[in-house]
Amino acid sequence: MSPPCHIAILASGRGSNLQALMDAIAAGALAARIVGVFSDKPAAGALALAREAGLPAVAVSPRDHPDRDSHDAALFSEIAAVQPDLIVFAGYMRIVGAAALSRFEGRMINIHPSLLPRYPGLHTHARALAAGDAEHGASVHAVTAELDAGPLLAQARIPVQPDDDASSLARRLLPREHALLVASVGLFAQRRLRLHPDHIMLDGRRLPAPLQLGADNRLDGA
Ligand code: GAR
Repeated sequence: MSPPCHIAILASGRGSNLQALMDAIAAGALAARIVGVFSDKPAAGALALAREAGLPAVAVSPRDHPDRDSHDAALFSEIAAVQPDLIVFAGYMRIVGAAALSRFEGRMINIHPSLLPRYPGLHTHARALAAGDAEHGASVHAVTAELDAGPLLAQARIPVQPDDDASSLARRLLPREHALLVASVGLFAQRRLRLHPDHIMLDGRRLPAPLQLGADNRLDGA
């Protein structure tokens, strides 16, 4: 049996996606090991969750660095020290410069709360509602230098309901995000994925379109 995939998590917020990955690993549903949790925010909930779980938890604050590049360099040196096979951006809310990203090309995925390419950036739920979308969702994609724009690996979709507001939409989407991220990391952990700057290979074949998360929390077509 191959060794478990070593994952580093980058998170700025409460860490519910991190928790979902930890739960899946504990349940034996994900053959991975979280080797460190990293944040730009010393008070991030994700770091507290990591410490409670006995995982290395490291904050690198932009305030301690004169510019983006030096912050990125410090943060990604900490990440390099734990030798991850994969870096999961799980609610990391800063733009990362190309120099830091090039170090880990092909080994980074991001989860984003919209059906990319719709609504990169912030306020995705409100923007989907304002546009009158019938459907909303979340995407997992390979990280490239362009914000929320790397090749898409997988998506989860939910219908927008007539009485939805941005918070109800976010609340209903969150458990689907968690299942989407766990399933996506699972494919990587099974060594079935190769992430390239402009496409993704699954089982040696170019992925023609993002995989879709089914009601059974499996990715259709994978
Ligand atoms: C998640 O909804 C994730 O999709 C989003 O941040 C939230 C983090 O929640 N990410 C982005 O907006 C990235 N552009 P969590 O801290 O509870 O996992």
